[in-house]
Amino acid sequence: MADDDQKNPDDFFIRITQAANTIKKHIDTNEFIRVITHIDADGLAAAGILGKTLQRAQAFFRLRIVKQLNEEIVNELTSEDPSLLIFLDLGSGSLDLLDAKLKDCELIILDHHKPMEVTIPQLTHVNPHLANFDGTREISGAGVTYLTAKTIDKTNIDLAPLAIVGALGDSQDKNDERGLIGLNEDIVDDAVNTGCIMVDKDLLLFGRETRPIHKALAYTTNPFIPGLSNAEDKCLGFLSNLDIELKHNDRWRAINDLTVEEKEKIFSKIATYLSSKGSPDSDALRLIGKIYTLTHEDRFKPMRDGREYASFLNACGRMRKGGLGIAVAMGSRGETLDEALKILTNYKKMLYQYLDWVIQTPKVLRKMKNIYVIDGSDKIDELIIGTIASILSSSYLKEKMPIIALTSAENGMVKVSGRIPHNFNRGNLDLGTIFHEISTKLNGRGGGHNVAAGALLPKESENQFVKSINKLVGSMHHTVTTD
Ligand code: C5P
Ligand code: ZN
Repeated sequence: MADDDQKNPDDFFIRITQAANTIKKHIDTNEFIRVITHIDADGLAAAGILGKTLQRAQAFFRLRIVKQLNEEIVNELTSEDPSLLIFLDLGSGSLDLLDAKLKDCELIILDHHKPMEVTIPQLTHVNPHLANFDGTREISGAGVTYLTAKTIDKTNIDLAPLAIVGALGDSQDKNDERGLIGLNEDIVDDAVNTGCIMVDKDLLLFGRETRPIHKALAYTTNPFIPGLSNAEDKCLGFLSNLDIELKHNDRWRAINDLTVEEKEKIFSKIATYLSSKGSPDSDALRLIGKIYTLTHEDRFKPMRDGREYASFLNACGRMRKGGLGIAVAMGSRGETLDEALKILTNYKKMLYQYLDWVIQTPKVLRKMKNIYVIDGSDKIDELIIGTIASILSSSYLKEKMPIIALTSAENGMVKVSGRIPHNFNRGNLDLGTIFHEISTKLNGRGGGHNVAAGALLPKESENQFVKSINKLVGSMHHTVTTD
């Protein structure tokens, strides 16, 4: 790979054009296109974008959702003999797997995870890191897929909202006012200019336009508000002595119906509450920021709000119903949507059961010198452990330290998810890199971004992995900021 100063941003767009041309060639010759996507919200949004693009072009294609690439999956793909394989929101960190096996078919990777340094001749590799863009913050897998879709046919500009949903799903809004930046911001411009998205600054509670305020508060999990998140009754009590009319003429008011002063009152009460629970001020500040509203969506459905749409897709994926999420992203409504919405409800229920269990069961959550460890073995679903780690790292824990969550996975393996809280001074700590390095040494596989990473390990390596992470985090000279 070239050194950072040799990387050229134009190269990113050249690769996008190459990828678009290759896809068009296969559409024109009506050859079988196999698309593999990642199970998370970004991956499903990316699949929604490419799926719609290929459907519009009447291409011959099939989609598959995976949680992580492995040799078995690559073998299965090889046996299908596709003429073109496209990987969305994954692939860049698994080039070693693709190299030997897939010699006879053209490959495209549209990803934003840290790439490996492997050259594959028949691969068009589109990844912001290869051209000096920040793949963690500036563009998601759905964003890379969107730019390619728009190059295939400019009418696909109407898919820009899904790229925004993908970026929000990957928490790329950890910026001033929780806005999207860099290449994501250009995508927001496309969506705003075509009237698909409206950007406002407001209180970031889920269901701002329609949901009763106490429900909107209970529904919000970022930041996770201990005692209030998922507790409608508690939220109602919490808001009722604020001297704000919660109901008007027998109709519950929503955040949108409140005056600026009323919103300020609510915000300052939540901020005081969070601070009484030991959270830093920055946690409350995450409740104010840019809202991305999908103007063509129904006001009463989660797809109306970018972040809520992302949680909805995330829920579909984690409940192993990612196909429903992609169908909705591609435009299906009616029964498909009804079924998907039920999944969202069940997912939330399950998530809170897990959270309660982690918080209330002795020894599940423990503190080492430099990290927190959660042991969810035999209890927490391997697809949900990452979300648990994200929620707990974002607010529940008193000390801002990286969190490493483990649980049992298929075939006697252990799934690990690591998250670094947003106001932890990382120094030169890059979780994706250390997860990759340590898991490889311990006969596992891992990788990811600098603040969020995952790995799959043999059971016997579990303790060594945790010890090594604890040691490495300690050696990277971090300090905790006081913001
Ligand atoms: O699985 P989990 O949600 O903990 O993963 C966190 C991040 O690390 C995700 O973006 C995921 O794609 C990435 N990851 C990776 N390689 C792995 C496992 C996870 O790039 N082997
Ligand atoms: Zn992603």
